[in-house]
Amino acid sequence: MSKKSKKILVTGGAGFIGSNFILYMLKKYPSYQIVNLDKLTYAGNIANLALLKNEPRYKFIKGDICAYKTVKEAICGCNWVVNFAAESHVDRSINGPAIFIKTNIVGTQILLDVAKKENIERFHHISTDEVFGALPLNCKVKFCENTCYNPRSPYSASKASSDHLVRAYFETYQLSVSISNCSNNYGPYQFPEKIIPLFITNALQNIPLPIYGRGRAVRDYLYVADHCRAIDLILHRGEVGETYCIGGDAEKNGIEIANTILGQLKKPLSLKTFVADRPGHDMHYAINHNKITTELKWQPKVSFGDGISRTIEWYRKNQHWWRKLVKNNFN
Ligand SMILES: NC(=O)c1ccc[n+]([C@@H]2O[C@H](COP(=O)([O-])OP(=O)(O)OC[C@H]3O[C@@H](n4cnc5c(N)ncnc54)[C@H](O)[C@@H]3O)[C@@H](O)[C@H]2O)c1
Repeated sequence: MSKKSKKILVTGGAGFIGSNFILYMLKKYPSYQIVNLDKLTYAGNIANLALLKNEPRYKFIKGDICAYKTVKEAICGCNWVVNFAAESHVDRSINGPAIFIKTNIVGTQILLDVAKKENIERFHHISTDEVFGALPLNCKVKFCENTCYNPRSPYSASKASSDHLVRAYFETYQLSVSISNCSNNYGPYQFPEKIIPLFITNALQNIPLPIYGRGRAVRDYLYVADHCRAIDLILHRGEVGETYCIGGDAEKNGIEIANTILGQLKKPLSLKTFVADRPGHDMHYAINHNKITTELKWQPKVSFGDGISRTIEWYRKNQHWWRKLVKNNFN
């Protein structure tokens, strides 16, 4: 392998962000190789990477990040690890936290252990803004790298624990780590349980869009391609041991998301349905991304208006992709 080439172990690469990242990196870096280690849970979908069927620089391994031997085999010859593998849905963590603890905490620790033994050049950990807790509605303060952790759901608590472990491996064993905490991603290949693909696919089927509580909870939305570009920059130019917050400058509540999707698809607003709120629902997340903007010259390029149009169009055109998932998981 030439000095400029990298071989990257991507975990969870058959999921939403991971598959977008693999497609982005292999296209941008013609000499890079990627090994994708994914357990293929309900959220993992090999069809996301169908475009790579004949790509010799890509290898898929079906396996669990909690299995030491599997991870050791997968990491062989890799320079970098990018860890996307996780249980990622807050509602599922409320109904069954155990698998979140196992995958998100124990799995990350096993990856870190193997990365340390194999002298990996960079371990990049993908985390979430949810580790910071909740902001009050209408508050102008945003989360940044110095915000104290205050996770409030089993999902965010498990992600917070994994972030602490990553930092502990940096401090204790000098493993070359970096972490990014991003806001809500949206775009192609997102499993239709998350709000944007759920609302789009429901609207396309003329079934109600379930809005939690009074629909006032605010999230910041980041188009997935902007997120992939940020990870790319952190891997190539980010400082070891550092954390970067990544946001889309697009704060929206549930009603705004539903109205936008119904409007673009020319569906009746009466499809909006208010349902019982999520227990312990965080009311507001917002990200200050000044650090990555100043240090790595990153900022989101895709506006919410543009990103949501592209996403709606993708789900409209790729009904074979999501109809199978809806049938197998929600009927
Ligand atoms: N989607 C978002 O809006 C968002 C926001 C912030 C942070 N994140 C983080 O980004 C990462 C990726 O999120 P996503 O939305 O792509 O998730 P996803 O649920 O779409 O994909 C997760 C992937 O991990 C795989 N996986 C799960 N358990 C595994 C295990 N034990 N071993 C190997 N693979 C396993 C699944 O099969 C799936 O392919 C996660 O770490 C998540 O916490 C996501």
